[in-house]
Amino acid sequence: MSNKVPEIAKTSVLVKSCDFTDLKTIVKGYDEWEKGVDYRSILKSYINCGFQSTNLGLAIEEINKMIQCRKEPLPSDTCINEEDPFIAITNNCTLFLGYTSNIVSSGLRETLKFLIKNKMIDCLVTTAGGIEEDFIKCLAPTFIGDFNLDGVMLREKGINRIGNLLVPNNNYCKFEDWVLPILDEMVKEQMENRIVWSPSTIIAKLGEKINNEESIYYWAAKNKIPVFCPALTDGSLGDMIFFHSFKNPGLIIDIISDLKRLNMMAINAKHTGMIIIGGGVVKHHICNANLMRNGADYSVFINTASEFDGSDAGARPDEAKSWGKIKKEASPVKIYAEATLVFPLIVGETFAKDFHENNNNQKLQV
Ligand SMILES: NC(=O)c1ccc[n+]([C@@H]2O[C@H](COP(=O)([O-])OP(=O)(O)OC[C@H]3O[C@@H](n4cnc5c(N)ncnc54)[C@H](O)[C@@H]3O)[C@@H](O)[C@H]2O)c1
Repeated sequence: MSNKVPEIAKTSVLVKSCDFTDLKTIVKGYDEWEKGVDYRSILKSYINCGFQSTNLGLAIEEINKMIQCRKEPLPSDTCINEEDPFIAITNNCTLFLGYTSNIVSSGLRETLKFLIKNKMIDCLVTTAGGIEEDFIKCLAPTFIGDFNLDGVMLREKGINRIGNLLVPNNNYCKFEDWVLPILDEMVKEQMENRIVWSPSTIIAKLGEKINNEESIYYWAAKNKIPVFCPALTDGSLGDMIFFHSFKNPGLIIDIISDLKRLNMMAINAKHTGMIIIGGGVVKHHICNANLMRNGADYSVFINTASEFDGSDAGARPDEAKSWGKIKKEASPVKIYAEATLVFPLIVGETFAKDFHENNNNQKLQV
């Protein structure tokens, strides 16, 4: 056998690279371990680390762009809806935040409350569990359990499982005691004052009634931030509405007026940003509203879903561009990740960072 490397192998393996102008950013991770553990620097290094850490870094950049755009003055021709303060356009970039129900079941509820309490978001979209779990937590706690706990054993003990979280059935009994008299009031107001209830006006009423600073929707009602939930009946709240309909029938919930409120908010906005945790209704409802304005300017999707099955949940932002739900020139980001792992880090490097910088600047000025 010849001791020369076969030419075909050599030319195949060592194909020459041509000048490629896109090769600018070098892969490099956190390299300061001997000096110490500096979580902020670790997070900063993510953008050049590759895979989903790069996507997390890009998402932080995208949300910081939303915050900067939001700070620009609102042009004088902006349609400020004074009749309905919940959908009034109050800043240059209207931010839509969507999240699935389990996000409120989890400890991300406290992060969402921070954003809403401090008016960092203009519009919320969630599913029924995302509403009721917030109120139920004001009445009784949810516990950490285990993904492997046996379902039959839990059923016998009257404990419900959401992943590795546990919710005693008694919590739902407390919720029933709290919500049924409010449903009675709503029927009365509908009959006597001709009030037409919609999911968003019901959520605002519940937010006022709970009167508890731990609640996301207490702050949403107080700060006049609308909360949309087109499938409001698909959860414990629906069970309560079902039971209540035998005792005191007649409650009507109008979803069309909410659709108008949400879509008009997107249409009137000067710029829009979408931050969507999870998929399904919450993701599509926000994207569809943004189609009404020919696309969102900024977008971040955080979810675990893939696109191979053709699901909307798994669709990448590029698919949303094809529908006109994200602007052609936008640079949206999708992070493939479980949200409880990444969302607090994202908020820490965006909204919370900006919040503390503003507070420090104000202190310096005093
Ligand atoms: N706590 C609960 O989860 C709960 C409680 C009551 C009712 N429900 C009802 O169940 C129905 C379905 O729930 P849904 O539409 O809110 O969403 P879902 O739980 O069905 O999730 C939809 C998709 O979002 C993504 N996703 C969900 N959780 C994620 C996470 N932690 N990190 C990253 N991606 C994630 C996944 O791709 C998932 O397939 C709704 O009608 C809801 O009201 C849920």
